[in-house]
Amino acid sequence: MKYIEVENYAEMSKKGAALIAAEVVSKPNAVLGLATGSTPVGIYKQLIEWFRNGDLDFSGVTSVNLDEYLGLDGTNPQSYRYFMNDNLFNHVNIDKSRTFVPSGTADDLASEGEAYDKLIKSLGGIDIQLLGIGEDGHIGFNEPDDCFTGPTHVVDLDESTVVANARFFDSIDDVPRKAITMGMASIMQAKKVLLVANGPKKYDIIQKAFFGPITPKVPASILQLHGDLTVIYSKI
Ligand code: PGA
Repeated sequence: MKYIEVENYAEMSKKGAALIAAEVVSKPNAVLGLATGSTPVGIYKQLIEWFRNGDLDFSGVTSVNLDEYLGLDGTNPQSYRYFMNDNLFNHVNIDKSRTFVPSGTADDLASEGEAYDKLIKSLGGIDIQLLGIGEDGHIGFNEPDDCFTGPTHVVDLDESTVVANARFFDSIDDVPRKAITMGMASIMQAKKVLLVANGPKKYDIIQKAFFGPITPKVPASILQLHGDLTVIYSKI
C-alpha cells in the first residue's frame, strides 16, 4: 500500500487527479471506476480543468460507477447518475453512452447486479477504481457486515450513512434507505485502487481500515489485500 498524507483538500485532489490522468494518458481507452460523494469533487474539478487546457482526452474512456440509490432515476438531482453528469461527464468529452452507473430503478435488481458485473468483465475489468470511504468504513455502499459480499448487490444503508448523506437532501426522510452497490469482487479485481479521504472525521476510520485488522466490520480494510492500493489522506 502507498499511504500518502497531504496538507489539505486541494493537494489531495490534485494528486488524486494526477493518478487518474496518468491512467488516461497511458491508456486512452482506460476503464475508470468512479465514485460519488463530497470527497472526489475536487478531483473531478481538476480533471475538467486539464481537459479544458487540452491536456486530457476522455473520448476513448469508459467509466463504471460504484453505486446508486434505489428508487431514484437519473433525472433526480439526488441520484448518483445525475451527480456524475453534473460533476464530470457534462464537462469533458467522454461518450455518455460509455458511462455506466448501476440502475436503482431496474424491475429485477438481482439481474441488474449480475448484468453489471458481466458488463465490467466484458470491458476487461477496471483499470483504476476511485473510492471515498464512509465514516463507518464503507466503500461504495458496502456497509459493515458479518461477511464481505462479492457481487453487485442491494444493501440496506446504515443509519450513520443515512445521517451522513442527509446533507444532500431536503430532509432526512427523503434519503433512500436502500442502494445497489458494486461488491468487493469487482473492486478488488480493479488493477489499481485509489482511495481518498479528508478531514478529522475520517481520521479514525483511515487508521482502522489501513492499519488495523482486516474485517468485514470495516469493509475498506479488505483493500489491504489489494496489490496496487494508493490511499491519499488530508487532515483538513
Ligand atoms: P463523502 O462520502 O465523500 O461524501 O464523505 C464518502 C463515502 O461515503 O464513500
